[in-house]
Formats: sequence, C-alpha cells, structure tokens
Amino acid sequence: MRVGVLGGGQLARMLALEGIPLGHRFTFLEPAPDPPAGALGRVVDTAYDDPAGLARIAAASDVVTYEFENVPASSAAYLAARLPVLPPPPALEATQDRLAEKRLFRELAIPTAPFHRVDTPDDLDAALAVAGLPAVLKTRRFGYDGKGQAVVRSAEEAAAAMAALGPGLIAERFVEFSRELSVLGVGARDGSRVFYPLTENHHREGILRVSHGPAPGVTPELQARAERLATGIMDRLGYVGVLAIELFQVGDDLLANEMAPRVHNSGHWTLDGATVSQFENHIRAVTGLPLAPPRVPGPAAMVNIIGELPDPAAISALPFAHLHLYGKSPRPGRKLGHVNITGRDADEVAEGIARVCAALPR
Ligand SMILES: Nc1ncnc2c1ncn2[C@@H]1O[C@H](COP(=O)(O)OP(=O)(O)OP(=O)(O)O)[C@@H](O)[C@H]1O
Ligand SMILES: [Mg+2]
Repeated sequence: MRVGVLGGGQLARMLALEGIPLGHRFTFLEPAPDPPAGALGRVVDTAYDDPAGLARIAAASDVVTYEFENVPASSAAYLAARLPVLPPPPALEATQDRLAEKRLFRELAIPTAPFHRVDTPDDLDAALAVAGLPAVLKTRRFGYDGKGQAVVRSAEEAAAAMAALGPGLIAERFVEFSRELSVLGVGARDGSRVFYPLTENHHREGILRVSHGPAPGVTPELQARAERLATGIMDRLGYVGVLAIELFQVGDDLLANEMAPRVHNSGHWTLDGATVSQFENHIRAVTGLPLAPPRVPGPAAMVNIIGELPDPAAISALPFAHLHLYGKSPRPGRKLGHVNITGRDADEVAEGIARVCAALPR
C-alpha cells in the first residue's frame, strides 16, 4: 500500500523503517530540508497547508497518517475528503488544544488534575482557586517538551507567567505524583485493540530522558485501569492507530496528563523490547492489516540522545545496547536519537542504562 505521512521527522522515519518490510511504500509531506525520513521514501517539501503539496501527497497515497498532532484542520479535511486519514481527524481536534483535551477526559470520567481555562488576567483568580498552588500554567496550543509552561507558587508569579506566556492558557494543579507512566493502545480498522504494558517515564527540564518498559511493579489492576482509560478515548474517537496517554500515578490512582494521537517517544523501547513495535502496529492499523499482540520477553529501557551526538562506536560496544540515530544535526535540547537497552533482569537493564548514560556526551 502507498502510505502518506504528514511530517518527515524521526517518528515518520521509524514508521517507514517498520512499514517497508510489510510491503508498503512511503511519501512524506515535510517542509524542512533533509528530513530524517528522507532516505526512506519520496518527500513533498511544501508547507502543511500548501494546496499543491496536499494534492501531491493525496495522489501519491492510499492512506494518510501523521507524526504530529498540529496538522492544520483544513489540511486534514482536504485529505479526508479524498482518502482515509488515520487516526481519524477528530483525534487531531481533541489533542491540539490542552483545554479541549482535558474537557474530553472529564466528559469520559477520566481523572485529571483540577484545571481551569485562563484567557484573560481576570480568569487567573478563578483558575488558581480551582488549581491551587503551586500550579502549572501551560499554553493551550503548540507546546512540546515542556515548552510554553511555567510552575507558579504565588498569585504574583502566576500573573508574571501569564504575561510571559501570552493569552490562551490552561492552569492545572501541580501534581505530586509518585511516578509518570504512559499507556499505548492500538486500534485496528476492524475494531480490534492491543495494548502495550505501561511504561515508566523520567523527564528532566520538561524533556523525556529515560523510559522503562514495562514499568516495574505494575499490578494487573493498574494495567487494566490504564487500558480502560485508553479504551474510553478510542471508543469515542473511532480510533485507528497508536494512541498514547501520559499519566501521573498518585498512590493507586491514575491522572491523565495529556494524550498523543500517534506513536510516542515513550514507546520507542518497543523496537527492541517487544516482539512487535509501536511503529509496526501503527502501520498495521492504518493499512488494514491485523494487529500483532505484543509480547515482552524481559525488561527494557530507552535513553534519549539529546543535544549532542555520542560516538556510535562507544554505544555499539556496549552489550545489550541498540543505537537508533535519526540523522539530525546537533542542537541544544534537540532529540537526535535514542538507545534501547534489553537485559535478562532489572539489574542488568539498570547497569545498561548507567553505562549508556556514561557514554553519552554531557
Ligand atoms: N500538572 C503537573 N504537575 C506536575 N508536573 C507536571 C504537570 N504538568 C506537566 N508536568 C511535568 O512536565 C512534563 C511535560 O508536561 P506535558 O507533558 O504537559 O507537556 P509537553 O510539553 O506536551 O511535553 P511532551 O511533549 O514531552 O509530552 C510532564 O511530563 C511532567 O513531568
Ligand atoms: Mg507530555
């Protein structure tokens, strides 16, 4: 099948790396020069809302998917009128705006931190009354890797943060979580579903650094609860493809932080730690192939490579380390690749993480 992908970054690259062996061919819509996915298919190098570019990718594809949620609504509508766009466009609307997303969670009885919209300075008092202090102020649109966010500890700090971030914000309670988890579900065109075991995620400066898959110490009840939350969203959206939901664990409870209608950084460990990766299952889903239930033979982890490139030889020399570079040039804070670590037991994986971290530039 001919698969069109909106975006040509590392997620598109890994989708193609896993989709080509299934017999598919790829075209990417990506305005930036020399994109990570460029080696794996044709690139249409126009803006995401360029009518000529959209017409070209529509003509070159049997199905269109995407690697980021900020696809312009008009582009999704243009493509959806011509060929299947999966995950379905309502998933884009639901995830482009943090306020809409949190309202959808609430509507589906999915627990979240208390939140409130902040559009004008007058909204701040009401928002802080709901969220309490400390609170997190976030831009409703276009945030990623913790950008467009501020933790505030007083009404004065909140006012200053609002001035700095601009209008169109959401305020939410700062959650004292015991850990961060994510659940990855996959929906097929025929309605069947598979789930990956919960992943435990560690962030620094708002950027994901290390994921442990499966998360240690997850009870069957906790896994089932996470799958129920994801199922509620997938049912509502008629979902096809991979859906990722980021969760805060507080005691035995799960609060939904945000979701992504796409493959997700916290699922990169599945390339080496599971019998079938999130990328392969996403491609299976959107191209109408049966899903593969993932089996996970042992513990695995992922360490992101951020800002500076390591010596590939140093990483490759490490036992149980699997290097994945994205072909991007270094820049501070930029995700350039990741290293997956597999092992026979948790101790071996922990040692692997330590050795990989020691081999990465500081
Ligand atoms: N309400 C909160 N309470 C405590 N920590 C928070 C809260 N919201 C966000 N964080 C922290 O900041 C990180 C990034 O926040 P969030 O996921 O909302 O933003 P993002 O910019 O979309 O991030 P990403 O693109 O990495 O998913 C979270 O993973 C968490 O560590
Ligand atoms: Mg996040």
